[in-house]
Amino acid sequence: MELDLEKHLAEAAASIEDAADLDALSEVDTALLGKKSAVTAAKRGLGDLEPDQRREMGGRLNEARATIEGLVASRRTELEAAARVVRLEAERMDLTEADRGRRLGHRHVVTQTWDRLEDLFVGMGYTVAEGPEIEDEWHNFGALNFPLGHPARDMYDTLYVDYGEPQSTLLRTHTSPVQIRVMEAGEPPFYSIMPGRVFRSDTADATHMPVFHQLEALVVDRDITFGDLAGTLEAFTTAYFGEGFTTRLRPSYFPFTEPSAEFDVQRPDGSWLELGGCGMVHPEVLRAGGLDPEEWSGFAFGFGLDRLALMRHGIDDLRELFRNDHRFLSQF
Ligand code: DAH
Repeated sequence: MELDLEKHLAEAAASIEDAADLDALSEVDTALLGKKSAVTAAKRGLGDLEPDQRREMGGRLNEARATIEGLVASRRTELEAAARVVRLEAERMDLTEADRGRRLGHRHVVTQTWDRLEDLFVGMGYTVAEGPEIEDEWHNFGALNFPLGHPARDMYDTLYVDYGEPQSTLLRTHTSPVQIRVMEAGEPPFYSIMPGRVFRSDTADATHMPVFHQLEALVVDRDITFGDLAGTLEAFTTAYFGEGFTTRLRPSYFPFTEPSAEFDVQRPDGSWLELGGCGMVHPEVLRAGGLDPEEWSGFAFGFGLDRLALMRHGIDDLRELFRNDHRFLSQF
């Protein structure tokens, strides 16, 4: 059978070009140049030809074979280059994974805020105290001058723990109970901060979380005045936020302080942000802590740590702090 070399070469070139990957190309290669290929068959048939014809046809077949080999080789180079790109892409991802394993992490933005505040207050001579997250109703409410049935207890959406008498054990709704624990555990004077986790039965939204963090401060000494409270808040605000930030106090009500106030921070652009509550420690609270209000006086304040972190970094959704999305947290 006579092989139409022109036509065969054109078809060969097309099928080589169509080979989409290296496996397909090696199949095409076998079909075009292998033992069962048309070129090999034609070569086998050369023996039947006259010597002149054999030489001529043999030469053309060798040329055709070389052409096909050249086309296969250049297509292979192309496909290998493409495969390398794919492989490099895959390996690049692998390397990123390996690198991520080795990279040192850093503290959560709330922990950073917490640590900075501790440093700041320790620098002003305060100690850091802690109390339990599961509290009894006395420390969370009673000792803080919220008698049983006092309407102010409703200000807190309390999560009770099914332990002991009904409503006797709870997840602390604020860090203020640690004030009582500090007074019970030591002798005045006290200059303490009490950072910690608190719990309320709130639905998560941009400004509320059922679990969040507060920082409480308690100072008890002789002749402590409201001026000391105002000055301390001012000093803390400037130290934490920087020059140009100031505070103001607005009259408010808390059962455990008298007088009570809320304190706001003014940004350099003049806008105000509500930060927390404060006041002079109520005589009943000093008594609950085992102190004589005739001899000792003090101030206290408390604010949300998470809120402070949001303000400082211009984050607008509290939930971001708890989502633990690495891409978000790695910014801080
Ligand atoms: N415990 C209060 C709350 O969670 C905040 C607070 C207000 C703390 C006044 C204080 C204070 O120490 O004096 O809403």
